[in-house]
Amino acid sequence: MEKDKTFNPWEIKGDIDYNKLVKEFGISPLKDLPEIFNKEICYRRKIIFAHRDIQRILETIKNKKKFVMMTGLMPTGKCHIGHLMIVKQMVFFQKLGAKVYIAIADIEAYNARQQSLEDSKKIAEDYLLNYFALGLDPNKCEIYFQSDRSKDAKKSNAYYRLQNLLARHATFNEFKAVYGEITPGKMLSSLLQASDMLHPQLKEFESNCPVIVPVGIDQDPHLRLARDISQRIKNPSFTQLSSVYTLFMPGLGGGKMSASDPNSYIAPTDTPEEVKRKINKYAFSGGQPTIEEHKKLGGNPDIDISFQYLKMMFEEDDKKLEQIYKDYKSGKMLTGELKQYTINKINEFLKPHQKKREEAKKLVEKFI
Ligand code: TRP
Repeated sequence: MEKDKTFNPWEIKGDIDYNKLVKEFGISPLKDLPEIFNKEICYRRKIIFAHRDIQRILETIKNKKKFVMMTGLMPTGKCHIGHLMIVKQMVFFQKLGAKVYIAIADIEAYNARQQSLEDSKKIAEDYLLNYFALGLDPNKCEIYFQSDRSKDAKKSNAYYRLQNLLARHATFNEFKAVYGEITPGKMLSSLLQASDMLHPQLKEFESNCPVIVPVGIDQDPHLRLARDISQRIKNPSFTQLSSVYTLFMPGLGGGKMSASDPNSYIAPTDTPEEVKRKINKYAFSGGQPTIEEHKKLGGNPDIDISFQYLKMMFEEDDKKLEQIYKDYKSGKMLTGELKQYTINKINEFLKPHQKKREEAKKLVEKFI
């Protein structure tokens, strides 16, 4: 990896070259999915772009056999619209019949981000409101804190036992190769995440079965480690993990969404005025400096953040999206018009979402 770049589950610096990562990590581009996947724009538009062993999951769905969708989120910083893409995945797989397991990674936040368990709990409330507002059925999933797996001692013991048993099957050199810089706390967090991903297959949970893990590509090191260890340990035995990888939603300025800078993202709690201000003022534009030039030369939707947001989340209608693409590129649609359209679309989404968040408050209270 180049010098000015860092890329590991705990830190990303510099531009992300997805093609290079796919090659470097040895994951496969995603293609030839069954028709039902096209219902979800993330698949239809290749926002979920790569996978490991998804074939096993497709077969399981075809044969109507049991499978698990497992993923997690570290509750650090404000939950922004970028996070919602993984949540849409949770809902999608839940509807496909998967048993859904969701880890709230408070131990990881403690060890890798110096965040207290209390703070993680508070922030997690906001994340959960978004999960339920987006349609996650709380009665058909297991959501847990890494620091507090279950009230049922048999289950809880099994989860933490697995983390401990996995330790023998990894080497220090492997940790260094997979993560670069590593500390005891981070090492424990990776083993705990391995247990997150593998424990649904223990007999105390669903027993041995296929598991799909949807994540951002920065999480692949965790998957590589868990996949390797899971095939070395013989008792308990595991079906190899499958995974799918989502592109990151770019921040307003074009770089990353940064939790510490509210002007780099749209939050699900933003008011219509805030959305308007942020898109108008901060959304990087692929347009030309003047209207005359824009009309003559056209804009570049591929680098335009408003267009990216429409594509990744807010414009479900493929025909409409294509029309916007063409009109912007030809110069017929101006930057101001594209921004206004995007503002309206985001606000149309947020209005009912915020109402559903209110309704979800009781659920979250019960859970927390
Ligand atoms: N490491 C993930 C993050 O930074 C959170 C996480 C914890 C996770 N356990 C997981 C993700 C299991 C996928 C599967 O957001």
